[in-house]
Amino acid sequence: MLTKFLHGPSFVSGAARGIGKATAFAFAKYGSPQVAIADVDAATLKQTAKELKDQYPNVEILPIEFDAANTDSTIKAIETAYSKFGRIDHAVNNVGTPGPLAPSISVSTSDFKNLIDINLTSMWVAQREQIKIMLKQEPVQQEFGKVRGTIVNMSSVWGGFGTRDFPAGTAYSATKHGIRGLTKSASFLI
Ligand SMILES: NC(=O)c1ccc[n+]([C@@H]2O[C@H](COP(=O)([O-])OP(=O)(O)OC[C@H]3O[C@@H](n4cnc5c(N)ncnc54)[C@H](O)[C@@H]3O)[C@@H](O)[C@H]2O)c1
Repeated sequence: MLTKFLHGPSFVSGAARGIGKATAFAFAKYGSPQVAIADVDAATLKQTAKELKDQYPNVEILPIEFDAANTDSTIKAIETAYSKFGRIDHAVNNVGTPGPLAPSISVSTSDFKNLIDINLTSMWVAQREQIKIMLKQEPVQQEFGKVRGTIVNMSSVWGGFGTRDFPAGTAYSATKHGIRGLTKSASFLI
């Protein structure tokens, strides 16, 4: 059975827990020699880094504290991983929060904008910075083909449709629809 099929360093955001953490473990398990895990929750991030190091002592683990609500912080997180590893072959932009789960009439503009910053703007900024890096680096032969890098942006089932049965998801669903748009539109670039 193929167990080591990923070549090159990885970057996973929102990796302190949940899907991001599971993704970081999968990258370490399936061959990525260096894994950067980025998150706003410093304490949980530290614990996750320890768990990864304990389970995969031969994999270099780089915990990066950052806040996706802040553009400079998002850019710095990716720069930190790139300057340490020299390339980023696998990026998973996974940060996402439900935000104000309430019907639009009960949500302030500032709460809506804050969710856009965390879920959508940070995703676009991260993708932009990763594309810049990947366009500069030589392609590497992965199991699925010779590529300069791959980027996964975490949307949701709520990025594919909306329903009046879930009016509390208006802001979240808007961000997740946006993620699909920015991903599809950039997919030809690398
Ligand atoms: N869990 C689900 O059922 C589900 C379904 C569809 C989509 N998703 C999406 O998958 C992604 C991960 O979901 P999850 O369930 O693992 O979430 P989670 O809440 O368990 O983990 C999210 C991680 O993101 C981090 N985070 C939150 N705000 C941040 C910020 N401002 N800056 C940096 N890090 C921040 C958190 O600290 C946490 O470690 C999200 O984008 C979510 O919208 C989840």
